[in-house]
Amino acid sequence: MALDLQAVHDTLVSVAFEAGRMILAANLSGISTDTKLNAVDIVTETDQAVERLVSSRLRAAYPDFDFVGEETYKPGVTRISDAPTFVVDPIDGTQNFVHAFPNACVSLGLVVDRVPAVGVVYNPFQDLLFTGVKGKGSFVQRNASLPAGRGRGDKQRLPLLGGGAGDKAPRLGDLSTSLVSIEWGSQRDGDNFELKARTFRRLAASRELGGGMTGGLRSLGSAALNICACAAGQLDLYWEGGCYAWDVAAGWCILNEAGGMMVGGNPGQWDTEIDSRVYMAVRGASGGQRELIKEFWGLIGDGR
Ligand code: IPD
Repeated sequence: MALDLQAVHDTLVSVAFEAGRMILAANLSGISTDTKLNAVDIVTETDQAVERLVSSRLRAAYPDFDFVGEETYKPGVTRISDAPTFVVDPIDGTQNFVHAFPNACVSLGLVVDRVPAVGVVYNPFQDLLFTGVKGKGSFVQRNASLPAGRGRGDKQRLPLLGGGAGDKAPRLGDLSTSLVSIEWGSQRDGDNFELKARTFRRLAASRELGGGMTGGLRSLGSAALNICACAAGQLDLYWEGGCYAWDVAAGWCILNEAGGMMVGGNPGQWDTEIDSRVYMAVRGASGGQRELIKEFWGLIGDGR
């Protein structure tokens, strides 16, 4: 029987709202925080509790599906197979969350045959919901958890500029006219740090210094919300070296459905691998996407 992606979407939305209530109920002044890779790679008891909640709800609703979550991931063991797999970040933007900086979200994706098929990204602090279903478009909704008729916003098709489908959205320009998001992430040493440092410098610097003099550079602290902002057309491009599948899976579906593109780290390789750690999201546009991506790779080298 064909997989009912819309039913999966409905389940993910209801789980996202429940998770959002748990996140909002957290007492930030007394929250206990642990570290993972290093001192800036943090996990809180709320991340873990939300993942337990999400995993139990999704396993009950879809017992045959695989589940990959940030807080239960085991390096070298956890894999995304061809089976339907929920790919979950219970709180994307944990640093923002512990600082009460209201740019963090629950990121719930379903990947089928290693391709993102459903995406639900919910920012409980702003009650802002992004959703996408493969082949059915993507949407944003404000005041999303309120009852209908009591302030809940209408679902607006993405991208917001262009009225849907991506191809009507304004053409992309070069980097000097682009609004770009780029993150430091938690890895602060080794090749990945050097790549990020080089990329930040080259994006920011003037042309005389060999840079692209990017119109605006932002670091907003949530990979999933960066990708959704590209889907909405609010950012032109987002790049990061060091993301994991749970940072990108849900947003990837939302971006695709808005006419945007997710590009892996290899120059000229327009198809992507879910396991790649270097990701670039480009908003939907009536043209200029490939030119902007080529300018970007040309600037930072081979992207690795
Ligand atoms: C992180 C955030 C951050 C990005 C990191 C992610 P987390 O997710 O999305 O913006 O730079 O690469 O790991 O740890 O808050 O779930």
